[in-house]
Amino acid sequence: MDPRATQILQRIEELARLSETPGQLTRTYGSPAMGRANQLVGQWLRAAGLTPSVDAIGNLIGRAPVKTAKRKTLLLGSHLDTVRNAGKFDGPLGVLLGIACVEACRAEGRQLPFDLAVIGFADEEGVRFQTTYLGSRVVAGTFAPKDLTRRDAAGISLREAVASFGGNPGKLSTARWPATSLVGYLEAHIEQGPVLEQKDLSVGVVTSISGQSRLLVEFIGRAGHAGTTPMSLRADALCAAAEFILAVESQARKKAGLVATVGRIQAEPGASNVISGTATLTLDVRHQADATRESAVAALQQAAHKIARLRKMQLHWQPVQQTSSVHCSPPLTRLLAHAVRHHEPRSVALPSGAGHDAAVMAGLTPTAMLFIRCKNGVSHHPDESVKPGDVAVALDVMVDFVRQLARQHE
Ligand code: GLV
Ligand code: MN
Ligand code: MN
Repeated sequence: MDPRATQILQRIEELARLSETPGQLTRTYGSPAMGRANQLVGQWLRAAGLTPSVDAIGNLIGRAPVKTAKRKTLLLGSHLDTVRNAGKFDGPLGVLLGIACVEACRAEGRQLPFDLAVIGFADEEGVRFQTTYLGSRVVAGTFAPKDLTRRDAAGISLREAVASFGGNPGKLSTARWPATSLVGYLEAHIEQGPVLEQKDLSVGVVTSISGQSRLLVEFIGRAGHAGTTPMSLRADALCAAAEFILAVESQARKKAGLVATVGRIQAEPGASNVISGTATLTLDVRHQADATRESAVAALQQAAHKIARLRKMQLHWQPVQQTSSVHCSPPLTRLLAHAVRHHEPRSVALPSGAGHDAAVMAGLTPTAMLFIRCKNGVSHHPDESVKPGDVAVALDVMVDFVRQLARQHE
């Protein structure tokens, strides 16, 4: 096995042991497990000749030790947080490939016309505060300060979480990178879909990243006794939510490429002998075309209102976050595809249905993304798996990409 891929996969295993839930991998923003991940990856950054630091929100950054003001930076990376009961590769693989790419470029001994830096974003998944891309939005300068008032399930505000993670919620703007300081951003990531496997290719090049709408939907009915309240006199919030969830499924099935998900539901008071008074659910809607996504959300809002009206309950419809579809930089994407063709029979262009920090970074700097084949296309699941040979190909492609970009800047 390629020793560089062996090292990356050993590191993946080490990182996967840093979890907030025993027996599973869960590493959400600001958790002690995230702090330990930053420390461990910080050691690997140092070993690669980079100087690690943590910015005001908790992103881990490894920079060139000697920085001259005029030199720009090519930033490589991905995120170190995970979903609940996650796979090991979504996020960390891109950070570890970034580090390995810096090591390989340094080993070549060639002077580059820009610096290389590696970033491990602190919150891409948005598990804890229901809002995604916190880390990259701070770097890109698009963080909305009102998000600091968001609260997690335990009632802790994002402001408090940033401070207790060692960050500075009042100084998030200091973590912003000026566009002029960057050459671009390159993110490697598992595909999280089956196309590369079907085509028998190790890697592919991302062309665009789907927009997404995330919302909280709350049905407010009336709690009551499960044994004594006749069916005709109930306002059962959980039944309204159930009807809405099926409406979400049928709305998404109407349009090719549209996906909509209710991933979490909470019913109160939550006892087997009490009718649900409130039911709150999350809604996630995605499509490559923003107009399609937006009209699906509007149709679902109407459906929710109708369900609430007919069941004589209240509805709270609360948009949490909306991001538009984003195109990767055409010149950097061409360069990446060129590098892919050095190592693969052909380069396929893939749209991404999953969200990535690259979607936010594309608003700041030219951005390219490389996908790596993953087993059965499975992701956001402990069965995530990649082949060592594919990791080695991804690394070769990244090093080639850096070499070619360097030639363009010389
Ligand atoms: C992140 O992985 C997302 O697409 O939700
Ligand atoms: Mn993910
Ligand atoms: Mn990811």
